[in-house]
Amino acid sequence: MRGRGVWDFMAGRDGIFIRACRMKKSSRTPVWFMRQAGRFLPEYRKLRKQYGFMDIVKDPKLAAAVTLMPVERLGVDAAILFSDIMTPLEGMGVRFRIEDGIGPVVDAPVRDFYDVESLRELDPYESTAFVMEAVRRSKRALHGRTPLIGFAGAPFTLATYLVEGKRSEDLSVTKSFMHSKSDAWHALMERLAAASAEYLSAQVLSGADAVQLFDSWAGGLSPADYEEYVLPYVKDIFRRLRGMEVPTIYFSTGTSVMLDSVGRTGANVISVDWRIDIGDAWDKIGKKALQGNLDPALMLCDIKTIRERAGRILDRVGGRPGHIFNLGHGMPPTTPVDNAAGLVSAVHEYGAH
Ligand code: CP3
Repeated sequence: MRGRGVWDFMAGRDGIFIRACRMKKSSRTPVWFMRQAGRFLPEYRKLRKQYGFMDIVKDPKLAAAVTLMPVERLGVDAAILFSDIMTPLEGMGVRFRIEDGIGPVVDAPVRDFYDVESLRELDPYESTAFVMEAVRRSKRALHGRTPLIGFAGAPFTLATYLVEGKRSEDLSVTKSFMHSKSDAWHALMERLAAASAEYLSAQVLSGADAVQLFDSWAGGLSPADYEEYVLPYVKDIFRRLRGMEVPTIYFSTGTSVMLDSVGRTGANVISVDWRIDIGDAWDKIGKKALQGNLDPALMLCDIKTIRERAGRILDRVGGRPGHIFNLGHGMPPTTPVDNAAGLVSAVHEYGAH
Protein backbone atom coordinates (compact mmCIF):
# COMPACT_ATOMS: atom_id res chain seq x y z
CA MET A 1 0.00 0.00 0.00
CA ARG A 2 1.55 3.26 -1.10
CA GLY A 3 -1.15 5.64 0.11
CA ARG A 4 -1.69 6.93 3.59
CA GLY A 5 -4.02 5.09 5.95
CA VAL A 6 -6.22 5.63 8.95
CA TRP A 7 -3.17 5.77 11.26
CA ASP A 8 -2.20 9.17 9.94
CA PHE A 9 -5.21 10.66 11.54
CA MET A 10 -4.64 8.92 14.84
CA ALA A 11 -0.90 9.34 15.06
CA GLY A 12 -0.89 12.70 16.72
CA ARG A 13 -0.56 14.51 13.40
CA ASP A 14 -1.59 17.54 15.37
CA GLY A 15 0.31 16.39 18.47
CA ILE A 16 2.95 18.47 20.22
CA PHE A 17 5.90 17.39 18.05
CA ILE A 18 4.21 18.17 14.74
CA ARG A 19 2.76 21.39 16.19
CA ALA A 20 6.24 22.52 17.22
CA CYS A 21 7.61 21.74 13.73
CA ARG A 22 4.83 23.98 12.40
CA MET A 23 5.62 26.70 15.01
CA LYS A 24 2.20 26.35 16.59
CA LYS A 25 1.60 26.77 20.32
CA SER A 26 1.24 23.62 22.42
CA SER A 27 0.81 22.52 26.04
CA ARG A 28 4.50 21.64 26.49
CA THR A 29 7.84 21.38 24.71
CA PRO A 30 8.26 18.08 22.81
CA VAL A 31 11.45 16.07 23.34
CA TRP A 32 13.17 13.26 21.41
CA PHE A 33 16.80 12.29 20.88
CA MET A 34 18.93 11.70 17.85
CA ARG A 35 20.30 8.15 17.99
CA GLN A 36 17.68 7.20 20.58
CA ALA A 37 16.88 3.92 18.77
CA GLY A 38 19.50 1.27 19.40
CA ARG A 39 22.98 2.25 20.52
CA PHE A 40 22.60 2.85 24.28
CA LEU A 41 19.48 0.83 25.17
CA PRO A 42 20.15 -2.48 26.99
CA GLU A 43 17.24 -4.20 25.22
CA TYR A 44 18.88 -3.29 21.87
CA ARG A 45 22.32 -4.48 22.99
CA LYS A 46 20.68 -7.77 23.93
CA LEU A 47 19.09 -8.10 20.49
CA ARG A 48 22.48 -7.32 18.90
CA LYS A 49 24.01 -10.38 20.60
CA GLN A 50 21.70 -12.45 18.41
CA TYR A 51 21.62 -10.45 15.15
CA GLY A 52 23.99 -8.36 13.06
CA PHE A 53 23.24 -4.63 12.67
CA MET A 54 22.20 -4.85 9.00
CA ASP A 55 20.18 -8.01 9.75
CA ILE A 56 18.03 -5.94 12.14
CA VAL A 57 17.81 -3.08 9.62
CA LYS A 58 16.63 -5.50 6.89
CA ASP A 59 14.06 -7.28 9.05
CA PRO A 60 11.00 -4.97 9.24
CA LYS A 61 9.68 -6.72 12.34
CA LEU A 62 12.93 -6.27 14.28
CA ALA A 63 13.52 -2.74 12.93
CA ALA A 64 10.03 -1.72 14.08
CA ALA A 65 10.63 -3.28 17.51
CA VAL A 66 13.84 -1.21 17.97
CA THR A 67 12.05 1.93 16.70
CA LEU A 68 9.49 1.50 19.49
CA MET A 69 12.01 0.85 22.29
CA PRO A 70 12.77 4.48 23.25
CA VAL A 71 9.07 5.41 23.13
CA GLU A 72 8.32 2.66 25.63
CA ARG A 73 11.43 3.07 27.78
CA LEU A 74 11.89 6.86 27.83
CA GLY A 75 8.52 8.40 27.00
CA VAL A 76 9.90 10.56 24.16
CA ASP A 77 7.43 12.53 22.01
CA ALA A 78 8.60 11.18 18.63
CA ALA A 79 9.95 7.89 17.30
CA ILE A 80 12.71 7.72 14.68
CA LEU A 81 12.87 4.80 12.30
CA PHE A 82 15.65 2.32 13.09
CA SER A 83 17.95 2.15 10.08
CA ASP A 84 21.14 3.88 8.93
CA ILE A 85 22.09 6.66 6.54
CA MET A 86 24.03 4.05 4.48
CA THR A 87 21.00 1.75 3.93
CA PRO A 88 19.80 3.08 0.52
CA LEU A 89 23.33 3.11 -0.97
CA GLU A 90 23.22 -0.65 -1.49
CA GLY A 91 20.37 -0.10 -3.96
CA MET A 92 22.68 2.25 -5.91
CA GLY A 93 25.27 -0.50 -6.27
CA VAL A 94 27.53 0.47 -3.33
CA ARG A 95 28.92 -2.37 -1.25
CA PHE A 96 29.68 -1.51 2.38
CA ARG A 97 29.72 -2.98 5.85
CA ILE A 98 29.25 -1.48 9.31
CA GLU A 99 32.26 -2.32 11.47
CA ASP A 100 32.13 -2.33 15.26
CA GLY A 101 33.63 0.81 16.72
CA ILE A 102 34.41 2.24 13.25
CA GLY A 103 31.09 2.64 11.44
CA PRO A 104 30.50 2.36 7.69
CA VAL A 105 33.34 1.02 5.51
CA VAL A 106 32.86 1.18 1.72
CA ASP A 107 34.49 -1.63 -0.37
CA ALA A 108 35.31 0.46 -3.44
CA PRO A 109 35.41 4.23 -2.72
CA VAL A 110 34.13 6.68 -5.34
CA ARG A 111 37.15 8.56 -6.66
CA ASP A 112 36.45 9.73 -10.24
CA PHE A 113 33.78 10.51 -12.82
CA TYR A 114 33.62 6.88 -13.92
CA ASP A 115 32.83 5.74 -10.36
CA VAL A 116 30.09 8.38 -10.12
CA GLU A 117 28.60 7.29 -13.45
CA SER A 118 28.40 3.71 -12.25
CA LEU A 119 26.12 4.62 -9.31
CA ARG A 120 22.62 3.37 -10.11
CA GLU A 121 19.45 5.39 -9.71
CA LEU A 122 17.63 4.37 -6.53
CA ASP A 123 14.20 2.76 -6.74
CA PRO A 124 13.20 2.98 -3.06
CA TYR A 125 10.19 0.67 -3.40
CA GLU A 126 12.34 -1.99 -5.01
CA SER A 127 15.72 -1.98 -3.27
CA THR A 128 14.59 -0.59 0.10
CA ALA A 129 11.18 -2.30 0.23
CA PHE A 130 12.16 -3.55 3.71
CA VAL A 131 12.52 0.06 4.94
CA MET A 132 9.03 0.94 3.69
CA GLU A 133 7.65 -2.14 5.41
CA ALA A 134 9.48 -1.14 8.64
CA VAL A 135 7.82 2.29 8.39
CA ARG A 136 4.36 0.71 8.04
CA ARG A 137 4.99 -1.73 10.87
CA SER A 138 6.35 0.99 13.17
CA LYS A 139 3.28 3.13 12.51
CA ARG A 140 0.96 0.26 13.33
CA ALA A 141 2.88 -0.58 16.51
CA LEU A 142 3.00 3.06 17.64
CA HIS A 143 -0.76 3.14 17.39
CA GLY A 144 -0.85 6.91 17.47
CA ARG A 145 1.24 7.32 20.65
CA THR A 146 3.85 9.44 18.86
CA PRO A 147 4.56 10.46 15.27
CA LEU A 148 7.25 8.61 13.30
CA ILE A 149 10.29 10.42 11.88
CA GLY A 150 11.79 8.99 8.69
CA PHE A 151 15.33 9.95 7.67
CA ALA A 152 18.07 9.93 5.06
CA GLY A 153 21.71 10.94 4.87
CA ALA A 154 22.38 14.31 3.23
CA PRO A 155 24.41 14.26 -0.01
CA PHE A 156 27.59 15.72 1.53
CA THR A 157 27.68 13.39 4.54
CA LEU A 158 26.99 10.36 2.32
CA ALA A 159 29.69 11.56 -0.09
CA THR A 160 32.26 11.69 2.73
CA TYR A 161 31.77 7.95 3.34
CA LEU A 162 31.67 7.15 -0.39
CA VAL A 163 34.83 9.10 -1.23
CA GLU A 164 36.92 8.48 1.90
CA GLY A 165 35.73 4.88 2.28
CA LYS A 166 35.18 5.45 6.00
CA ARG A 167 34.92 8.19 8.58
CA SER A 168 37.68 10.76 8.25
CA GLU A 169 38.70 13.48 10.71
CA ASP A 170 39.90 16.05 8.17
CA LEU A 171 37.85 14.99 5.09
CA SER A 172 40.97 15.64 2.99
CA VAL A 173 40.19 13.08 0.25
CA THR A 174 36.61 14.39 -0.04
CA LYS A 175 37.79 17.99 -0.24
CA SER A 176 40.45 17.30 -2.82
CA PHE A 177 37.86 15.41 -4.95
CA MET A 178 35.47 18.36 -4.56
CA HIS A 179 38.03 20.99 -5.64
CA SER A 180 40.06 19.13 -8.24
CA LYS A 181 37.27 17.16 -9.94
CA SER A 182 34.42 19.54 -9.43
CA ASP A 183 32.39 18.29 -12.43
CA ALA A 184 32.45 14.77 -11.01
CA TRP A 185 31.63 16.20 -7.56
CA HIS A 186 28.55 18.03 -8.82
CA ALA A 187 27.43 14.89 -10.67
CA LEU A 188 27.86 12.86 -7.47
CA MET A 189 25.89 15.36 -5.37
CA GLU A 190 23.13 15.46 -7.99
CA ARG A 191 22.75 11.67 -7.90
CA LEU A 192 22.80 11.52 -4.11
CA ALA A 193 20.27 14.36 -3.79
CA ALA A 194 17.91 12.62 -6.22
CA ALA A 195 18.26 9.34 -4.29
CA SER A 196 17.69 10.96 -0.87
CA ALA A 197 14.64 12.86 -2.14
CA GLU A 198 13.10 9.71 -3.65
CA TYR A 199 13.92 7.69 -0.56
CA LEU A 200 12.36 10.27 1.81
CA SER A 201 9.26 10.66 -0.39
CA ALA A 202 8.75 6.89 -0.30
CA GLN A 203 9.02 6.91 3.50
CA VAL A 204 6.39 9.66 3.70
CA LEU A 205 4.07 7.76 1.36
CA SER A 206 4.61 4.67 3.51
CA GLY A 207 3.53 6.60 6.61
CA ALA A 208 6.37 8.74 8.05
CA ASP A 209 4.96 11.87 9.73
CA ALA A 210 8.12 13.97 9.41
CA VAL A 211 11.55 13.51 7.82
CA GLN A 212 15.05 14.46 8.89
CA LEU A 213 18.09 14.89 6.66
CA PHE A 214 21.35 14.05 8.50
CA ASP A 215 24.31 16.20 7.42
CA SER A 216 26.60 15.28 10.31
CA TRP A 217 29.90 16.39 8.75
CA ALA A 218 28.81 19.59 6.91
CA GLY A 219 30.59 21.68 9.57
CA GLY A 220 33.95 20.49 8.25
CA LEU A 221 33.56 22.85 5.28
CA SER A 222 34.30 26.55 4.94
CA PRO A 223 31.12 28.65 4.64
CA ALA A 224 31.98 29.49 1.00
CA ASP A 225 32.49 25.85 0.05
CA TYR A 226 29.27 24.86 1.83
CA GLU A 227 27.42 27.47 -0.27
CA GLU A 228 28.99 26.37 -3.55
CA TYR A 229 29.31 22.60 -3.26
CA VAL A 230 26.61 21.51 -0.80
CA LEU A 231 23.75 23.96 -0.21
CA PRO A 232 22.21 23.76 -3.74
CA TYR A 233 21.71 20.00 -3.33
CA VAL A 234 20.24 20.22 0.18
CA LYS A 235 17.85 22.90 -1.12
CA ASP A 236 16.93 20.64 -4.03
CA ILE A 237 15.91 17.82 -1.65
CA PHE A 238 13.65 20.07 0.46
CA ARG A 239 12.21 21.62 -2.71
CA ARG A 240 11.25 18.16 -3.98
CA LEU A 241 9.59 17.35 -0.65
CA ARG A 242 7.59 20.56 -0.44
CA GLY A 243 4.38 19.07 -1.83
CA MET A 244 4.36 16.22 0.69
CA GLU A 245 2.84 18.16 3.57
CA VAL A 246 5.03 16.70 6.29
CA PRO A 247 7.53 18.77 8.29
CA THR A 248 11.19 18.54 7.25
CA ILE A 249 14.22 18.81 9.55
CA TYR A 250 17.82 19.62 8.59
CA PHE A 251 20.49 18.38 10.98
CA SER A 252 24.15 19.33 10.90
CA THR A 253 26.93 19.94 13.42
CA GLY A 254 29.75 22.47 13.53
CA THR A 255 27.73 24.86 11.39
CA SER A 256 27.04 27.69 13.87
CA VAL A 257 29.34 29.97 11.82
CA MET A 258 27.15 29.41 8.75
CA LEU A 259 23.65 29.44 10.19
CA ASP A 260 22.53 31.97 7.62
CA SER A 261 23.24 29.36 4.91
CA VAL A 262 21.72 26.52 6.95
CA GLY A 263 18.62 28.66 7.47
CA ARG A 264 18.20 28.87 3.67
CA THR A 265 18.04 25.09 3.08
CA GLY A 266 14.25 25.19 2.96
CA ALA A 267 13.72 22.83 5.92
CA ASN A 268 10.91 23.65 8.36
CA VAL A 269 13.07 22.81 11.38
CA ILE A 270 16.77 23.50 11.87
CA SER A 271 18.80 21.38 14.27
CA VAL A 272 21.64 23.22 16.03
CA ASP A 273 24.56 21.86 18.03
CA TRP A 274 25.89 23.10 21.41
CA ARG A 275 28.55 25.45 20.05
CA ILE A 276 26.12 28.39 20.06
CA ASP A 277 23.63 29.92 22.50
CA ILE A 278 20.13 28.82 21.45
CA GLY A 279 18.77 32.38 21.57
CA ASP A 280 21.57 33.61 19.27
CA ALA A 281 20.97 30.65 16.94
CA TRP A 282 17.29 31.54 16.70
CA ASP A 283 18.09 35.17 15.89
CA LYS A 284 20.29 34.00 13.01
CA ILE A 285 17.86 31.41 11.63
CA GLY A 286 14.76 33.58 11.80
CA LYS A 287 11.17 32.37 11.60
CA LYS A 288 11.70 28.60 11.68
CA ALA A 289 11.37 25.88 14.26
CA LEU A 290 14.53 24.95 16.18
CA GLN A 291 15.77 21.63 17.55
CA GLY A 292 18.82 20.50 19.52
CA ASN A 293 21.45 22.43 21.47
CA LEU A 294 22.13 20.29 24.58
CA ASP A 295 25.74 19.04 24.62
CA PRO A 296 25.53 15.21 24.32
CA ALA A 297 28.50 14.86 26.71
CA LEU A 298 26.16 16.01 29.51
CA MET A 299 24.35 12.66 29.22
CA LEU A 300 27.34 11.10 31.00
CA CYS A 301 27.14 13.53 33.97
CA ASP A 302 24.87 13.31 37.03
CA ILE A 303 21.14 13.87 36.60
CA LYS A 304 21.20 17.11 38.63
CA THR A 305 23.60 18.70 36.13
CA ILE A 306 21.59 17.40 33.18
CA ARG A 307 18.35 18.86 34.60
CA GLU A 308 20.01 22.16 35.35
CA ARG A 309 21.44 22.52 31.81
CA ALA A 310 18.13 21.48 30.24
CA GLY A 311 16.43 24.13 32.39
CA ARG A 312 18.83 26.79 31.09
CA ILE A 313 17.91 26.00 27.46
CA LEU A 314 14.18 26.05 28.27
CA ASP A 315 14.57 29.37 30.16
CA ARG A 316 16.47 30.92 27.27
CA VAL A 317 13.74 29.84 24.82
CA GLY A 318 11.04 31.08 27.19
CA GLY A 319 8.19 29.00 25.75
CA ARG A 320 8.54 30.41 22.24
CA PRO A 321 6.52 28.23 19.82
CA GLY A 322 8.59 26.05 17.51
CA HIS A 323 11.04 24.61 20.03
CA ILE A 324 11.84 20.89 19.95
CA PHE A 325 14.09 19.74 22.77
CA ASN A 326 16.95 17.48 21.60
CA LEU A 327 20.69 17.02 21.91
CA GLY A 328 23.10 18.80 19.58
CA HIS A 329 24.19 15.42 18.16
CA GLY A 330 23.50 11.75 18.90
CA MET A 331 22.93 10.14 22.28
CA PRO A 332 26.33 8.78 23.40
CA PRO A 333 26.48 4.95 23.34
CA THR A 334 27.44 4.78 27.05
CA THR A 335 24.55 6.95 28.32
CA PRO A 336 22.89 5.48 31.44
CA VAL A 337 19.22 4.85 30.63
CA ASP A 338 18.16 6.66 33.84
CA ASN A 339 19.85 9.84 32.61
CA ALA A 340 17.96 9.75 29.30
CA ALA A 341 14.64 9.00 31.03
CA GLY A 342 15.40 11.68 33.65
CA LEU A 343 16.02 14.26 30.94
CA VAL A 344 12.68 13.44 29.28
CA SER A 345 10.92 13.95 32.65
CA ALA A 346 12.77 17.22 33.25
CA VAL A 347 11.70 18.61 29.86
CA HIS A 348 8.13 17.45 30.44
CA GLU A 349 8.14 19.25 33.83
CA TYR A 350 9.95 22.52 32.98
CA GLY A 351 8.64 22.64 29.45
CA ALA A 352 4.97 22.83 30.45
CA HIS A 353 3.55 26.09 29.15
O1 CP3 B 1 18.42 7.85 15.61
C1 CP3 B 1 18.33 6.63 15.72
O2 CP3 B 1 18.58 6.03 16.75
C2 CP3 B 1 17.84 5.85 14.51
C3 CP3 B 1 18.81 4.97 13.89
C4 CP3 B 1 20.10 5.56 13.32
C5 CP3 B 1 21.32 4.82 13.28
N1 CP3 B 1 22.22 5.55 12.56
C6 CP3 B 1 21.52 3.47 13.86
C7 CP3 B 1 22.88 2.95 14.02
C8 CP3 B 1 20.32 6.77 12.69
C9 CP3 B 1 19.38 7.97 12.48
C10 CP3 B 1 21.67 6.76 12.19
C11 CP3 B 1 22.25 7.87 11.42
C12 CP3 B 1 23.68 7.86 11.12
N2 CP3 B 1 24.46 6.79 10.79
C13 CP3 B 1 24.46 9.04 11.01
C14 CP3 B 1 23.97 10.45 11.19
C15 CP3 B 1 23.77 10.81 12.62
C16 CP3 B 1 25.04 11.03 13.41
O3 CP3 B 1 25.13 10.42 14.50
O4 CP3 B 1 25.87 11.83 13.01
C17 CP3 B 1 25.77 8.62 10.68
C18 CP3 B 1 26.97 9.53 10.48
C19 CP3 B 1 25.76 7.21 10.53
C20 CP3 B 1 26.88 6.32 10.12
C21 CP3 B 1 27.15 5.29 11.17
N3 CP3 B 1 26.40 4.15 11.33
C22 CP3 B 1 28.18 5.29 12.15
C23 CP3 B 1 29.22 6.37 12.33
C24 CP3 B 1 28.04 4.11 12.89
C25 CP3 B 1 28.98 3.63 13.99
C26 CP3 B 1 28.37 3.40 15.29
C27 CP3 B 1 27.47 4.48 15.86
O5 CP3 B 1 26.52 4.13 16.60
O6 CP3 B 1 27.67 5.65 15.57
C28 CP3 B 1 26.89 3.42 12.40
C29 CP3 B 1 26.30 2.17 12.90
C30 CP3 B 1 24.99 2.34 13.63
N4 CP3 B 1 23.93 3.04 13.13
C31 CP3 B 1 24.63 1.77 14.88
C32 CP3 B 1 23.31 2.14 15.13
C33 CP3 B 1 22.45 1.73 16.30
C34 CP3 B 1 25.51 0.89 15.76
C35 CP3 B 1 25.63 -0.44 15.11
C36 CP3 B 1 25.65 -1.56 16.10
O7 CP3 B 1 24.57 -1.92 16.63
O8 CP3 B 1 26.73 -2.08 16.33
